[in-house]
Amino acid sequence: MSRIPPHLRALPVGLAWLALSPLSVHAGSLAKPAPGDATRGQALYSQQCMACHAADISLAGPLHRGVFGRKSAGVPDYPYSPAVQKLRLTWNDRTLDAWLQSPNRMAPGNRMGFAVPDARDRQDLIAYLKTLTPTPAPAR
Ligand code: HEC
Repeated sequence: MSRIPPHLRALPVGLAWLALSPLSVHAGSLAKPAPGDATRGQALYSQQCMACHAADISLAGPLHRGVFGRKSAGVPDYPYSPAVQKLRLTWNDRTLDAWLQSPNRMAPGNRMGFAVPDARDRQDLIAYLKTLTPTPAPAR
């Protein structure tokens, strides 16, 4: 640290500020992969997904808590279609994006019957799904 000239010592602080500033969120949206906006994603989720999905109970569609990082067709007792049972993948940024863009392309014969054509909407929805982390096991 002592060899760094005084006028450069503030640099790491400056960079940290830049990384956290709202400005860089905009700059970041030009880079790939851009971070999704989980707050906007939550609003989209209530408008578009909650007719069939919830975090903690399966409705027409399987429950979503822990879906990010979960195996496809991973909710025990949910009656997945054979098409989704055959997928055998892990839900991550890439696979969720492909699924939401076109469930029918990814798994012909699936029963979701809903797609999200807008890339930014998908990104924000995925950012929201990431916040639905698995419930920790109850303390004993
Ligand atoms: C019209 C009802 C409906 C809507 C609306 C809907 N889904 Fe689904 N979704 C389903 C059904 C049904 C399945 C199970 C499909 C199957 O087994 O073929 C499913 C499956 C999924 C899966 C796979 C889950 C797993 O456990 O493998 C994800 C992820 C998913 N939906 C996300 C979403 C998101 C995000 C939205 C909102 C943008 C949404 N869905 C909107 C009915 C719906």
